[in-house]
Amino acid sequence: MNNIRSQIVGCGSYLPERIVTNAELAETMETSDDWILTRTGIKQRHLASDGELTSDLAIRASERALAHAGIDANEVELIIVCTTTPDDTFPATATRVQARLGLTQGIAFDLQAVCSGFVFGLATADNFIRTGQVATALVIGAETYSRILDWEDRTTSVLFGDGAGAVVLRAGNGDDAQPGEDGWGNSRGILSTHLHSDGRHRDILYVDGGPSATQTVGYLRMSGKEVFRHAVLNLASVAEEAVAANGMAIEGIDWLVPHQANLRILEGVARKLGIARDRIIVTVDRHANTSAASIPLALDEAIRDGRIKRGDLVLMEAMGGGLTWGAALVRW
Ligand code: ACO
Repeated sequence: MNNIRSQIVGCGSYLPERIVTNAELAETMETSDDWILTRTGIKQRHLASDGELTSDLAIRASERALAHAGIDANEVELIIVCTTTPDDTFPATATRVQARLGLTQGIAFDLQAVCSGFVFGLATADNFIRTGQVATALVIGAETYSRILDWEDRTTSVLFGDGAGAVVLRAGNGDDAQPGEDGWGNSRGILSTHLHSDGRHRDILYVDGGPSATQTVGYLRMSGKEVFRHAVLNLASVAEEAVAANGMAIEGIDWLVPHQANLRILEGVARKLGIARDRIIVTVDRHANTSAASIPLALDEAIRDGRIKRGDLVLMEAMGGGLTWGAALVRW
């Protein structure tokens, strides 16, 4: 085995300017700030303006991530846009991002694993890097869920928001950080990724449209209670899988950066795992659920405000439609 390890060397995010509070939603549908806040922890969400596309959000987040990493766009060899709300059915939103970054070579494609998209994208880019196929990758989670919400359906439309987050990954030497007592475990970078899918649960979270099935885009449909139950079980089990694979224990995790679906899901998982509330990065109150964008948005906030520091052990995890779920354990 070679010593290549993928290191996250920069991150960036972008939220559309327009903020919509729960109280504003209550003006147009039968809901209330109290119902939304108690059931989900959400206070507000950002919504893209007319004509503002997923690629626009992705570009802004990418530019910020590249600037943070101090890397010129020309060095990027792989772009993965993780999204369920691409600009077009095809070509991939990633190729639009690639062109707008001024790149004419390298690999660019979209990845669709719904709310788990960013973890799946991170795992995919990590494999490209570890096998030596590329040295620098941009992984972006970008969504405009407001376009696939049925605004007549209060049970789903209050839960989501729009946004984008991006990270720059670089091939690093697995031995270049201070190797600690656990050897490789203390080196910087992605320690491992763990992905799962189970298509039997398709009907609890899906979009009722698609190019092949209906030739329409469709709207998001969800059985909230079922999703909630699966989320807590799967997220807790994949977190345990990730730490066990590295010979570590949950107590060693400095920061949990979960997909931001719902505060009650986050707290349920944390309780199950025995992780203190102040070790969880929470943005769902201000961003709502931004699907594949939620983890890089939360990550960017915690990096920039100094909570996540060099050497910290960071666990990212997500579950989404499919069902899909996964985790990535990273030494920062
Ligand atoms: N405002 C006011 N009342 C509402 C609203 C609303 N926005 N939505 C539903 N209600 C009503 C329902 O109609 C129902 O009324 P009834 O009792 O008269 O029939 C009542 O509130 C209770 O509805 P439930 O669906 O039982 O509410 P529940 O406590 O299950 O909460 C929720 C619903 C918040 C969706 C919860 O099930 C949940 O969080 N599920 C997880 C879903 C999720 O996060 N999905 C994101 C995508 S997947 C992912 O990212 C992991």
